[in-house]
Amino acid sequence: MKKKLTFLGIETSCDETAASVVQENTDGTALVLSNIVSSQIKEHKKFGGIVPEIAARAHIENIDLIIQEAINKSKKKIEDLDGIAATSGPGLIVCLNVGYSIGKSISAFARKKFLSINHLEGHVLSPGIENKISFPYLVLLISGGHSQFLIAKGLNNYKQIGTTIDDAVGEAFDKTAKILDLGYPGGPNVEKFAKKGNKDSYELPLPIINKGGCNLSLAGLKTDILRKSKNIKSNQEKYNLAASFQEAINKILLKKTSIAMKQFDKETSGKTSKLFVVVGGVAANKSIRNNLKTISKKMNFKCIFPSKEFCGDNAAMVAWAGIQRFKKKLFEKENGVVRSRWPLDKNAPFLKGPGLKL
Ligand code: KG4
Ligand code: ZN
Repeated sequence: MKKKLTFLGIETSCDETAASVVQENTDGTALVLSNIVSSQIKEHKKFGGIVPEIAARAHIENIDLIIQEAINKSKKKIEDLDGIAATSGPGLIVCLNVGYSIGKSISAFARKKFLSINHLEGHVLSPGIENKISFPYLVLLISGGHSQFLIAKGLNNYKQIGTTIDDAVGEAFDKTAKILDLGYPGGPNVEKFAKKGNKDSYELPLPIINKGGCNLSLAGLKTDILRKSKNIKSNQEKYNLAASFQEAINKILLKKTSIAMKQFDKETSGKTSKLFVVVGGVAANKSIRNNLKTISKKMNFKCIFPSKEFCGDNAAMVAWAGIQRFKKKLFEKENGVVRSRWPLDKNAPFLKGPGLKL
């Protein structure tokens, strides 16, 4: 019988310090033996956002303990591992350096293979932890720093067909939470308070809804929320605005997803089973999940969302990406470098900045 690979994953690209031990299952999915995430909500709450130096310090304080906990809980020893995978970009350099350095050091001492992992690839492959999936599939990656439609054609082979030209979806949630004083972390709080509001009470702009293919633009929406927030006189109005914001995001994602699905059909000439996966922190949002399930049904796509613990930043997805790459001997040449920017599709146009025409 073929040996089942076991990897330690380490994730410190932003504000979660995470370590996980993952083993392959015989059916092609993953057995997550441990998945430890230490969130820095408390550290950043008083600033209403992430402060890189504070995040880096918290990673340094916690990372050894988190790794130890992940190993202990998995009932494995370092000797049992086949490799160690750590996120090396994109993200905050001072934060990435912490997980990357400790991962590299452990692998050197334990004589294990070390793999640099692209955080975005971790998200893109994350549905495979719990589901037997095969390429190609359509991906909507919606997180705090990124919003992209991708066609995952194979491991290390991703075509970006749409992205945001300004704010990411998670960023729009976080900024809205800040404007409405709903507390930190923004996304889950907007979702919570939106439940108390009426989603039809405010008419909000839906930027580039009818142009720009499946690219997104959210900055205008945030500006309008800021303007409207100035006239808010009660908590109820605040909840109504939060609900209307979430509804605007849903309308934008619905339209843009239908465009992306048509493009997927065109690119694959309808020759493949239609699979749509939604990944990243915002994929935890129930209202967005329901909205995207509706459009998937209409467009005949099977739709998969990872469980909540694998939507937000976690190290199981990093270990899992490590296992996939190890099997295909896909090792990054750039070992030794962490990167703040690291697109999955090197040929994708960089759609940000003044003078942008869609
Ligand atoms: O993937 P993730 O944990 O980190 C990045 O790679 O950015 O995503 C974090 C983002 C944050 O902007 C957070 O507010 C958002 O995901 N988020 C949510 C929800 N949970 C997390 N946004 C909307 N609704 C949620 N329930
Ligand atoms: Zn992420």
